[in-house]
Amino acid sequence: MNNNLLLKQIEEILKTNTDSSYYHITAMSNISALLYDNMKDLNWLGFYILENDNLVLGPFQGKIACSKIRVGKGVCGTCASTLKTINVKNVHEFEGHIACDSASNSELVVPIFKANSFYALIDIDSPKYERFSKEDESLIEEVSKLISKYFF
Ligand code: SME
Repeated sequence: MNNNLLLKQIEEILKTNTDSSYYHITAMSNISALLYDNMKDLNWLGFYILENDNLVLGPFQGKIACSKIRVGKGVCGTCASTLKTINVKNVHEFEGHIACDSASNSELVVPIFKANSFYALIDIDSPKYERFSKEDESLIEEVSKLISKYFF
């Protein structure tokens, strides 16, 4: 599926079930399944959600993962403190990287904002080194913007 179609489907997911108290969980679950299925060479894709000084595990696809990451720790915690996309070509060279799945060799993490405040992040792992391109960064940043548009 091309990126435009993927973004359209994500917008459809975000328009669905909005009146449920579990809307955010349902939407993130389907978004993680859709992205995981449509991006090549991944071993993990999911959300971490900010709670006080920690990131807690949200909906994801892949193996069991760390349920809590302190802001400032690992790639995810660094994203939560810098509020910037992080594209790690080789996770073994990233100081403090947290290895939830030993198969991971590269990682892309993109922050998500809700009502202009940092809310969560999308974390994607690949067994391939240098898996994520500028185009992947843009795609996931678009996904993040769409989520911000619907989550408030
Ligand atoms: N590698 C991440 C931890 C989360 S897992 O990849 C699912 C990190 O360093 O923050």
